[in-house]
Amino acid sequence: MNNSKTKLPIGILDSGIGGISVLAEIIKMLPHNEFVYFSDTLNFPYGTKPEDTVRSLSLKATEFLASIGIKSLVVACNTATSAAINEIRTLFDFPVIGMEPAIKLAVECNGKGKILVMATPLTLNSKNFIRLTSRYTQKTEVVSLPCIGLAEFIERQNRYNYGNQVNEYLIHLFSSIPIKDISTIVLGCTHFVLIKKEIRKIVGDDVVFIDGNYGTARQLKTVLQEKQLLYEINTSPASKKPLKAKITFCVSGNEKEVIKNYKYVLENEGITCE
Ligand code: DGL
Repeated sequence: MNNSKTKLPIGILDSGIGGISVLAEIIKMLPHNEFVYFSDTLNFPYGTKPEDTVRSLSLKATEFLASIGIKSLVVACNTATSAAINEIRTLFDFPVIGMEPAIKLAVECNGKGKILVMATPLTLNSKNFIRLTSRYTQKTEVVSLPCIGLAEFIERQNRYNYGNQVNEYLIHLFSSIPIKDISTIVLGCTHFVLIKKEIRKIVGDDVVFIDGNYGTARQLKTVLQEKQLLYEINTSPASKKPLKAKITFCVSGNEKEVIKNYKYVLENEGITCE
């Protein structure tokens, strides 16, 4: 049953392009809902800033989305979640879904080797992350890999075309990691999901990648159903493809052309914007 609130958009928040990988997964699961995507490009990157700064930036971004009128918020950024999720939940009355490195899932799926978590320095140093990993360290060894500058690199690329430079960066990043000991890699930054193919080239085919995007979409759907906020219309399966999504893009910086990159990433996932 749809009520007046169900038609409000779902807010998605990230410092830049990373949250688009989450948005794609959400659109596939909830194709009839509307979305407002806010990227805080003016203050990008979050991952190398102090926690207090990221907390206040995330609150400001949430205030902006709340002022538009949203029925729920997805903080599609592991870094912002680690710094600000508690405060956001306290200050706003819509349901808020955060993202943290999917270590639980990685432990459940892991083979015999170690689990490597790629994330920003702020995420890896956060209390939440330390608490999260301490739950699993008896079962398996979890290795943190702070990826300083990698999100910046992904953000700067045009039309999702990473080429040689990212390859060189990754070769350098992994030079101190004994890859043969690693069986699972957790992509603990939404930007990194966009370069899965490039990381795969360095680590080989045997390593399993885990990210939180599908779990986040599923969690959002569950919460919206519980709160009777899910907008649903009945369609025949044939009308599902290609997916057409209603998305409003908001960027805090001046570089409005980044929206072309966002649309390009979505198109690669079979999603066009209305
Ligand atoms: N996309 C953000 C995350 O998931 C990080 C990017 C940044 O450093 O701003 O952590």
